Amino acid sequence: MPLIKSLRSTFRAVLPFHPLWLYRQRRGKRRLIDFACERLQIRSFADLGGVWGVDGEYTFYAMKTHKIQTASLVDFAVTETVVTRKREYPGLKLNIGNFGAEEVTQQIGNVDAVILFDVLLHQVNPDWDKILELYAKQTKCFLIFNPQFTASRSTVRLLDLGEEEYFRNIPHTKDEETYKAAFEKMYEIHPRPQYQQRRIYRDIHDIWQWGIVDDDLIAKMKSLGFSMRYFRNHGRFNNLANFENHAFAFWK
Ligand SMILES: C[S@@+](CC[C@H](N)C(=O)[O-])C[C@H]1O[C@@H](n2cnc3c(N)ncnc32)[C@H](O)[C@@H]1O
Repeated sequence: MPLIKSLRSTFRAVLPFHPLWLYRQRRGKRRLIDFACERLQIRSFADLGGVWGVDGEYTFYAMKTHKIQTASLVDFAVTETVVTRKREYPGLKLNIGNFGAEEVTQQIGNVDAVILFDVLLHQVNPDWDKILELYAKQTKCFLIFNPQFTASRSTVRLLDLGEEEYFRNIPHTKDEETYKAAFEKMYEIHPRPQYQQRRIYRDIHDIWQWGIVDDDLIAKMKSLGFSMRYFRNHGRFNNLANFENHAFAFWK
């Protein structure tokens, strides 16, 4: 029986993302931006890790829909689409680098809001909670949309669950090159050129790193002087048994 359950959950997890599910996820992120711009009067922001798979979609949505003049879009790399679209937005800065690095934080400077959509769970060294500490000094609002872990009372480093449990919980398989390498070369140095510091495979941003639970996130934000102004549960992450998409706005 446990074997059947495990096979079923692995099978569900690797099914391609359903278009309706993707549409709802994107709509949930846009609604969070609408809330922040309309109700909290956000006038500038930094979209951290806003490029992969979406070409800065949320940055451009916020700037166009809510007439935001000043923003930063930050990622390890930008795409041609981003560079082309940027021409319509002179107030948009493209920051290429690790947003956990002090110099990138400084380049971004003070902003009304920091957007963290599907990125907190990837942050190691500095870890997800340290990223919040870093940016708490230069913003009054965090917009967070993240797959939150529901199978534990406290936050877990997913790799520490062991290989079998790890793949049972996340929407990737060990056949994928990045994931295969993360286990086979876990303590070897990753050759990625963007990493200025030496970083082992275990600590790379490309893989699922954390199962963050709501209580820990809310407690962390509270300790930094922020209160929760918005929460929506957008349901299961792609049918994963132990992750749900939750949207938060925290305000100081
Ligand atoms: C799962 S994608 C999320 C993309 C987008 N925010 C969204 O909501 O669909 C994670 C993105 O964050 C970037 N990223 C993750 N950690 C980062 C870091 N520390 N510094 C810069 N970019 C990072 C990745 O390169 C990737 O583009």
